[in-house]
Amino acid sequence: MALSNKHILLIISGGIAAYKSLDLIRRLKERGAKVTPVMTRGAQEFVTPLAVGALSATHVFTELFSRQDEQDVGHIRLARDCDLVLVAPATADLLAKMANGMADDLASTVLLATDRPVLVAPAMNPKMWEAKATKRNIATLKSDGIAFIGPMAGEMAEKGEAGVGRMAEALQIAEAVEHLLDDAPKPLKGKTAIVTSGPTHEPIDPVRYIANRSSGQQGHAIAAALAKLGAEVTLVSGPVTIPDPAGVTTIHVERAEEMRDAVLGKLPSDIAVFVAAVADWRVASSSEQKIKKQPGDAPPALQLTENPDILKTVGHHEKRPRLVIGFAAETQNVEDNGRAKLQRKGADMIVANDVSPETGIMGGARNQVKIISASGVDAWLDLSKTEVAERLAALIAERLT
Ligand code: CTP
Repeated sequence: MALSNKHILLIISGGIAAYKSLDLIRRLKERGAKVTPVMTRGAQEFVTPLAVGALSATHVFTELFSRQDEQDVGHIRLARDCDLVLVAPATADLLAKMANGMADDLASTVLLATDRPVLVAPAMNPKMWEAKATKRNIATLKSDGIAFIGPMAGEMAEKGEAGVGRMAEALQIAEAVEHLLDDAPKPLKGKTAIVTSGPTHEPIDPVRYIANRSSGQQGHAIAAALAKLGAEVTLVSGPVTIPDPAGVTTIHVERAEEMRDAVLGKLPSDIAVFVAAVADWRVASSSEQKIKKQPGDAPPALQLTENPDILKTVGHHEKRPRLVIGFAAETQNVEDNGRAKLQRKGADMIVANDVSPETGIMGGARNQVKIISASGVDAWLDLSKTEVAERLAALIAERLT
């Protein structure tokens, strides 16, 4: 388990997002971490120490001047006897205290006293996040070496309010913790990688588009696996509903042409892995206005034109990465078609999979692939998409070192 033997001191401060901390405790524990919670007075207005303690299965610390707690551990030991201090949610108020070195309750005192890495997951109203004072505090904290996850864009608890300010989801926070505490070997340190992922959406008019069933799971997992081995990864993602992986720079695009531009903008690079299910065609001239249905009219004929082949462009580019890897989504003759793609696209390796509907691979969590290269074919059977990603990242590291 990624966090086994790791001890996280989780500080919960007083925002509505505190309810998500309950799920966060579960996510950290299922990764093997020990979680010791500290709650501010504000946090206790939103969730109870009883609920937090029931999930963490440890004592919940709430008071700075608690004779019992000070006798048992003391706030200084609390601050030091952990591998990481995580603040989730981090309110504007607690961030301001941290930036100014204030220590007037247990949470802020622990944060001032700790010599461990600190990760904060801010959560606040978008106006508070944009306030000049908050921006100043964030800049100070970043230069002090505090790590951030989020906040994210989306709906706020307040009716009708939206913008940047939502706390990152529990899974994203748990991944960020894993990333920060990861002490595994980094064979790809100093190497750069580009990964494409997800589908592309090719507009027909402002409300309609051509798409496919790609979920982005495989591409995102590969980006995360390369980052785990130390590579500096840029993920160029089409529209997906899964979160951006931790430790990776993600560029969001819609159309194939945007994806190509984003990829070319990142050359030179040591590694490029093309996992995206790029739409082969786009509508030749998409309509600026919504196409209306007129009584008696025949359905509109869509004139299609070919999209740029991003893998082929990069495979033959003057700044071609040392290692270019493509995927081949096939429904028949997987190996032969994969081999043909290796040649045609100028790739070093093709990861070929059978995406016939009965395999459940497209959009599913599992995969079985054939790795096709000049040196032959290797079959990886019935693995999770994460396992495929980890094996591929290890193979890339082997090829480059
Ligand atoms: N690819 C790409 N740009 C495109 C089409 C495909 O970069 N416009 C990449 C995909 O990311 C994948 C590989 O090319 O790595 C093969 O994609 P696939 O859809 O299997 O192949 P196609 O070239 O579209 O061939 P066909 O549809 O005939 O199988």
